[in-house]
Amino acid sequence: MKHNFGAGPCILPQDVFKEASKAVLDFNGLSILEISHRSADFVKVMEEARQKVKEALNVPDGYSVLYLQGGASLGFTISALNMMRENKKAGYINTGTWATKAIKEAKSVGIDAVTAASSEDKGFTYIPKDLNLSSDFDFLHYTSNNTICGTQFQDVVKTDLPLICDMSSDIFSKPVDVSKFDLIYAGAQKNLGPAGATLYIVKDEILGKSTSDFLPSYLDLKKHADKDSMMNTPPVFSVYVSLLNLNNLLSTGGVEAAKTRNEAKANLLYSEIDNNPLFHGTVAKEDRSNMNVTFLLKDDAPTEIFNKMWNDANIVGIKGHRSVGGYRASMYNALSIDSVQVLVDVMKEFTRKNG
Ligand SMILES: Cc1ncc(COP(=O)(O)O)c(C=O)c1O
Repeated sequence: MKHNFGAGPCILPQDVFKEASKAVLDFNGLSILEISHRSADFVKVMEEARQKVKEALNVPDGYSVLYLQGGASLGFTISALNMMRENKKAGYINTGTWATKAIKEAKSVGIDAVTAASSEDKGFTYIPKDLNLSSDFDFLHYTSNNTICGTQFQDVVKTDLPLICDMSSDIFSKPVDVSKFDLIYAGAQKNLGPAGATLYIVKDEILGKSTSDFLPSYLDLKKHADKDSMMNTPPVFSVYVSLLNLNNLLSTGGVEAAKTRNEAKANLLYSEIDNNPLFHGTVAKEDRSNMNVTFLLKDDAPTEIFNKMWNDANIVGIKGHRSVGGYRASMYNALSIDSVQVLVDVMKEFTRKNG
């Protein structure tokens, strides 16, 4: 068995893989891959998958849950277009690559995207705390977890402005107060399901209020909400597997229990990084992510030895993102603490031999 620390698409529970593979061969006599999205069977899947998101995150009344396509990358554009108001100006907290891309896409649709705070001065290794907000911002946008550098907002950003969040890499990893947001979006391929679907949780009262002259139907969240997320062919398989995964999450204690498990995994690995003389963590301690743990070897010389050791231990996916290097252990919900222990044991053994 491999220990998959990949950043996404990533590990999902084995039971979900088993159930999903059964449905590929037989889903009420057909394959899940060939059923019509208009069939009663799939309409039920979509309804349940939307409902289970509400259950898992305790989504209050007055919000719609949508499963669209285009990844979080299209979410940058969709969120900006749907939240654009009279001022066509918005605040963006820049915590790294994905936030930078969100800013670029907002600008490309005509929003004056102002950097309300940034951690670029230190290579995005911390979460900026002081925000430069202006009451003429149509909204404030942030990325709850920087998947690449391994920083994470520990709390929801406090503001009176309408709030948008890209929660791609930490949604469902812990409870979140959805009522504080006007719009949340997240690519499915971390804690929700396989790549293909993108989740939107949107406050109904913001729908249909865009001031953009350019709003193609697919980018208009109101059109999707009016059609119960079935305006066009949805990513059928990704939605189905997301439903299986949400059922699995709910039957294992929901996001509260996931949070406890994720904290235990993060504590185990961070304490090894902090106590092992050959490694060091790359981000500010108070801003460390529980999902993506980034670290370096203090001395590059034994890199090949360390790489061989974790490779031999059946660990995959811990090479850092190509833009930053080093190591990144992504520890999404489905990764067991036993896998984290295997990595920690490799680090200890490496240090015993090379320290
Ligand atoms: C926080 C965050 N935002 C956006 C993206 C881009 O997502 P997608 O590839 O679904 O467009 C990613 C991808 O990993 C991400 O981690």
